[in-house]
Amino acid sequence: MRGNDPRVVLGLHRSRHERRLLTGALDLGVTALDTSSNYLGFRSHQVLARTAGDLLSQFSVSTKIGYFPSPGGAEHSLDPARLRAAMEQGAKDLGQEPDLVFLHNPEQSLRDASSCHQAVLMQAFEALDEAVAKGRCGAWGIASWDPSPLLNLIDGTSPRPSVLMVRAGLLVGAKALVAAEDLTKAWGPNEITVWGMSPFGGSASDSVWARIDPRVFLRDGSQLSRVQAAFRAAYSLPRVDAVAVGTDEPAHLGELVGALTGQVEERMIEEYRSLLRDHTSGQLV
Ligand SMILES: NC(=O)c1ccc[n+]([C@@H]2O[C@H](COP(=O)([O-])OP(=O)(O)OC[C@H]3O[C@@H](n4cnc5c(N)ncnc54)[C@H](OP(=O)(O)O)[C@@H]3O)[C@@H](O)[C@H]2O)c1
Repeated sequence: MRGNDPRVVLGLHRSRHERRLLTGALDLGVTALDTSSNYLGFRSHQVLARTAGDLLSQFSVSTKIGYFPSPGGAEHSLDPARLRAAMEQGAKDLGQEPDLVFLHNPEQSLRDASSCHQAVLMQAFEALDEAVAKGRCGAWGIASWDPSPLLNLIDGTSPRPSVLMVRAGLLVGAKALVAAEDLTKAWGPNEITVWGMSPFGGSASDSVWARIDPRVFLRDGSQLSRVQAAFRAAYSLPRVDAVAVGTDEPAHLGELVGALTGQVEERMIEEYRSLLRDHTSGQLV
């Protein structure tokens, strides 16, 4: 069952990409690394290869494509030719083929796309399917901050990603939570792996975390800190197999790994979900 063997993915979105973080992760048994072509000012792949190229084979490395530098700053695109080129460049810069390549927030590209959204999305999926078949990456997935626009575009004939990555945790909100669960169902819950991301909404020191005690979501929360409890609860909102979390501190990563022993109090999670649902339906009235 999803969530029974929770795993930690070290996310590099806000990371300084220091070698000590990667060696610390390996010491803790964290062997999944998530980056993106645009992280660290579009230099993440090169910097990883330079500072820790010899360590990368010990990790399962995921990256993301679909967000490109542009004269105005950066832009999303699902153009298959640009995706293929990004895939090749990524492997070259990393010095190895990534184990997993995500389409990065495809909903953003669809917002701008002028032609049929479903056709645009399917062509991108096919480009990634083809990349796996050609050995350019081990598998492909979708990383989506807001999966709701994707829901109507998926049917039984759509190519299926290996991994869907969605926001997870207490700050997600009902709309994104339900959309993530519906999308998982659309592909068949046992057919894909689901990863959560951004369990602290980007900052564990935000004032919101001082106003709640996430230990209420655990069976014996007294053993863990608030940060640990918020992290552990994220595996249930929505139910995910792994959570990509960011830190530059190996000691913080150790705390998160330590949180995995916590047992989620499902009754409290369910109460929280109905609270979110009621709040959302109240807003819609
Ligand atoms: N659309 C997408 O594809 C997308 C979008 C967002 C995120 N993601 C993925 O999700 C990953 C994580 O997201 P995120 O970095 O935005 O947010 P996050 O994981 O919710 O929060 C990261 C922050 O939490 C702090 N933190 C972590 N563990 C801590 C601990 N034990 N004690 C105190 N503070 C702690 C870190 O500070 P310290 O450095 O001080 O520990 C860091 O600033 C990303 O790296 C990426 O892999 C993907």
